[in-house]
Amino acid sequence: MAKFTINGKPVESAAEPDTPLLWVLREDLGLTGTKFGCGIGQCGACTVHLDGAAVRSCQMPVSAVEGKAIVTIEGLSDDGSHPLQVAWIEEQVPQCGYCQSGQIMSAAALLATTPKPSDADIDTAMVGNICRCGTYQRIRKAVHRAAGGTS
Ligand code: FES
Ligand code: FES
Repeated sequence: MAKFTINGKPVESAAEPDTPLLWVLREDLGLTGTKFGCGIGQCGACTVHLDGAAVRSCQMPVSAVEGKAIVTIEGLSDDGSHPLQVAWIEEQVPQCGYCQSGQIMSAAALLATTPKPSDADIDTAMVGNICRCGTYQRIRKAVHRAAGGTS
């Protein structure tokens, strides 16, 4: 039985210890904002925060999050008012949208440690988040906007 918090709420999971956190989030807890893309740690669609760091939940056994704090896209804000969510809308970033919750979670982890990131900082932090629709330029602009710079 793994005990941890998700979006500030205590959770107990009876899943097998090697069950990927992504499965627990989506199948057991109904938090479907976190997406299954590749399942092998290569696309970033499943990105969540583990004690503030961006991690791939498809590669994270639920036993490894014992005692940790998980935040998913649903926990980023109560009402979509996080600066990144606002900037994503203002810059009209998404196309199909499938990768975007993972993109935003990676960007949020970046801004938490680097409030005014350079283009290179953004590219480095986001390199593991793949967008098949090619929204990378708008992602970069939205991160700058959320950081308080011009887009
Ligand atoms: S689904 Fe986890 S990295 Fe692709
Ligand atoms: S918006 Fe379609 S994969 Fe990124």
